[in-house]
Amino acid sequence: MNPNKYVTLNLSNLADPTVKPRRSLWRLWNQLSRFQRSLLYVGFASAVLMMIYFWPIVVSQGGEPLVISVETLPSPQPAVDVGVFKNTEIDGLDTGNKEEQQGEAALEAENEIRDHGAPPNEPQVEEPMSQKAVRFKGPITERQKAVTAAMQHAWKGYKEFAWGHDHLKPISGAYHDWFFLGLTIVDSIDTLYIMNLKNEYMEAKKWVEKSLRFDRNQDVNLFEVTIRVLGGLLSSYHLTGEKIFLAKAMDLGERLLPCFESPSGVPFSDINLGNHKAHSPKWSPDSSTSEVTTIQLEFRDLSSSTGDPRFEEAVSKVSEHVHKLPKTDGLVPIFINANTGQFRVYSTITLGARGDSYYEYLLKQWIQTGKSIEYLRNDYMEAIEGVMKLLIKRTSKSSLLFIGELQSGARDFKPKMDHLTCYLPGTLALGVHNGMPKEHMKLAEDLLWTCYQTYAQTPTFLAPEITYFQIQDANAADLHIKSNDAHNLLRPEFIESLWYMYQLTGNKTFQDWGWTIFQAFEKYTKVTNGYTSINNVKSPSNVKPKDMMESFFLSETLKYFYLLFSDNPKLIDLDEYVFNSEAHPLPISKS
Ligand SMILES: *[C@@H]1O[C@H](CO)[C@@H](O)[C@H](O)[C@H]1NC(C)=O
Repeated sequence: MNPNKYVTLNLSNLADPTVKPRRSLWRLWNQLSRFQRSLLYVGFASAVLMMIYFWPIVVSQGGEPLVISVETLPSPQPAVDVGVFKNTEIDGLDTGNKEEQQGEAALEAENEIRDHGAPPNEPQVEEPMSQKAVRFKGPITERQKAVTAAMQHAWKGYKEFAWGHDHLKPISGAYHDWFFLGLTIVDSIDTLYIMNLKNEYMEAKKWVEKSLRFDRNQDVNLFEVTIRVLGGLLSSYHLTGEKIFLAKAMDLGERLLPCFESPSGVPFSDINLGNHKAHSPKWSPDSSTSEVTTIQLEFRDLSSSTGDPRFEEAVSKVSEHVHKLPKTDGLVPIFINANTGQFRVYSTITLGARGDSYYEYLLKQWIQTGKSIEYLRNDYMEAIEGVMKLLIKRTSKSSLLFIGELQSGARDFKPKMDHLTCYLPGTLALGVHNGMPKEHMKLAEDLLWTCYQTYAQTPTFLAPEITYFQIQDANAADLHIKSNDAHNLLRPEFIESLWYMYQLTGNKTFQDWGWTIFQAFEKYTKVTNGYTSINNVKSPSNVKPKDMMESFFLSETLKYFYLLFSDNPKLIDLDEYVFNSEAHPLPISKS
């Protein structure tokens, strides 16, 4: 935690009790009636409040750094008109070109300032890093241009048919709502900004300003909203320097806090953003382990960006609690109960769904906090040792390394790996870069190769959601895909790992692997109005489109492709930023 990022308004010198009034004034004061004194108190209090309110404006005009300015905090909003979500009106796009150009001019101006330093006559103030706009030049390589065109294509379809809704259904030209938070927009902002797509970025920003609201009477999932919306807003704030994103993040964070008011401090999985009531999911008394341990980067960043410690305190307690629970060689069951704070004993151990990002955030939290929290590093080390001891096997035929699952309380090994697990090579490489044992890199390379095979060995060159591995018969194929698992949701994890490996090793082979896969996405998932998930990677003649474009395709998959295809492996430097689980970069604390 970087204490320099905290800016507190010091009010004590406005109402300093040690300054005594002159004698005669004091006598006058004593002569006043109680009512008169009360009036004066109220008047004085109002004056102080006015000063607090206008202080940030005065200060920011004076060129002082300020983390959050009060005038950008959201004002109370009227009750939600549910009807607004049912119609397909394009909301927030009704602005003329003029405003758009002004917005662009502002963006240019910001970039100018960063490029050339502050104008000479102004005092040179060292601002916190998060205040500066980071400049991105836009696509340079042919491959980056192709990815940028894909982003524009996806955005155009979303804008036309699903604007303001969570997801686009690109085949039917309709939309899908899950949390009613315009997920695709919020998830896309930093990607648009990194690609230097100015018009699209301004459209997104304007929608956030005018239409993003959190007061709807609607249950949402704490984890999903944290990684997508809170993470998206915070990373947009850090990259663009626009305070509106931080103000919205603060409003949201505030509404998510009641989740942590459980008997154990382990958060409930769901919360109603409108009435602030938190509860377990409808289908289970438990929360997912990965969900309660994959909110820490975002909440901690919200605290360091706003100076309000409550967010960090809530999530640190969860991390510390989980740290103390008994584990199997550092590995955790995938369910945890918010009331008792205990793991569900017979639940599965996996690095796939519901387990994955527990391990990812151990390492990333340790990095985010300037490597200051020792138990995070130790738990990560122990967990990777546990993976090597209990979860790693090789196929009989070609000796492909994979990570399996332990079921029924660690008794049964299943040679099954989710595509989600393919995030791990990237995380392992990041760990080695930060001083973890070299043998982790060998594991990363071997697993990356297997993940590549899950793409390369299907006729579409697209990976299925789940792959089974052959560990008994040396004559049978290494990989097996069940028809129920043959879907591809445009997921990012393998591309994410390719980018980490490219940045941290400089090996351009990973760019070529990624390019082949990008072309497969273009061939099999691109449709007239966007990109769609598909149901069958095994059938090139009919991939069975699912009619759904997930927000993580724009947030993660296309962002990682874009970063991977840059000639500059450090287009976003992993020594300066830590990427959350939804590919939103957050600054690393330098303290
Ligand atoms: C790059 O990575 C590929 C795949 O892992 C490997 O075969 C190749 O030897 C690497 N190249 C270099 C120069 O390390």
